[in-house]
Amino acid sequence: MKGLSRDRKMALINRFRGPKTGGGGGGQPRRRQTARARFEDFDAYQRIEVQRQASERLNISNPFFRRHEVRAGGTSRIDGVECINFSNYDYLGLNGDPRVSAAAEKAIAEYGTSVSASRIVSGERPIHRELERAIADLYQTDDAITFVSGHATNVTTIGHLFGPRDLIVHDSLIHNSALVGAELSGAKRRMFPHNDWDALDRLLTEQRDQVDRVLIVIEGLYSMDGDMPDLTRAIEIKKRHGAFLMLDEAHALGVLGERGCGTWEAQGIDPAEVDIWMGTMSKTLSSCGGYIAGNTALIEMLRYGAPGFVYSVGLAPPLAAAALASLTILRDEPERVARLQANGRHFLDAAKARGINTGDSEGYCVTPAILGSSIKAANCSNAMLDQGINVQPIIYPAVEERAARLRFFLSAEHTKEQIDTTLDRLQAWL
Ligand SMILES: Cc1ncc(COP(=O)(O)O)c(C=O)c1O
Repeated sequence: MKGLSRDRKMALINRFRGPKTGGGGGGQPRRRQTARARFEDFDAYQRIEVQRQASERLNISNPFFRRHEVRAGGTSRIDGVECINFSNYDYLGLNGDPRVSAAAEKAIAEYGTSVSASRIVSGERPIHRELERAIADLYQTDDAITFVSGHATNVTTIGHLFGPRDLIVHDSLIHNSALVGAELSGAKRRMFPHNDWDALDRLLTEQRDQVDRVLIVIEGLYSMDGDMPDLTRAIEIKKRHGAFLMLDEAHALGVLGERGCGTWEAQGIDPAEVDIWMGTMSKTLSSCGGYIAGNTALIEMLRYGAPGFVYSVGLAPPLAAAALASLTILRDEPERVARLQANGRHFLDAAKARGINTGDSEGYCVTPAILGSSIKAANCSNAMLDQGINVQPIIYPAVEERAARLRFFLSAEHTKEQIDTTLDRLQAWL
């Protein structure tokens, strides 16, 4: 960017941002310009090209798809360089734990690497139900069900349960998977400003009579900002309006509460007050897949009807075993949760003390450093890697341009020294 006029910089930034429409284009149908069907003509592809060319012109190397050559935890090795790693959701450092790996290996020895088909037709393995029982116990629910992807869990659950006569209301910062599920359901969709309970209440007062069922979807800990909802308030509102409440605990399990049970433990809530508990196994549980916990009727409906379960393969045995072993360690070693929480708190306090804008973060597993420009965030991420620190930039359109940031994920594996070194280098760069 150095040496460019302000107008030239803005022109490049606008090109870098690209248009906001998604997928293959949207808007008016296009007039056919060529006789051949070409992927190169898709708006979605051209946007990627514009960004790539702008990055080249601005001399910003691609900060995405970095190649980790070892198990990525609190540290990693990227292209031969050892670094402190903050781009990792393995919050309790369980990925690669010998007990988790041994459980996965044992499952492979017993059942192989795959169950090859849907559980409903080809049958399940004992490990599937053992895992689901452990998840149900965690939320004190009747039952639970697991899916092969966290993203697909939200898509298929919301898409299957709700329909065109229903209303889905979600926080403005809700994860993409819930949005895609809501879209798939055909229900009316409305969002309320982030954590604005009065706005949610008003919205439901206006809309409740016009629809059949209502689903409110929120997250236990928001992964862009590291802040939390007021669950007591959400429950009070959902009850008064006769709505269902779904809580996505992707970043809350293993992170919140003394024992890492998540939002219900941290906020002293009876888990039965929430209708749909959702979580992923890719983060604290060092595996892959998603889960839903709730009452028998909910789980039976999903088990016999959700397309992402009925028409998709069951969880691979080593992944089910790894998740179950991780849950067992979470139960037996709450000191890991305490270490993560101490790291999260120290990172937030130390960043604030250095004048870094950490937004609304409450200092658990994720804290952003808001830089206010996509180009600055990408440049900063690359500069940090050059100094042995891996942290991802979050740029427009994932967040608004003025909210572009570096996003730091903390782990129980980080040391205080690593955190201080990182923040010193960031402060110096800024
Ligand atoms: C809040 C939330 N929900 C769902 C998902 C999807 O989970 P997975 O990556 O395990 O598919 C993510 C992924 O990061 C997430 O942050």
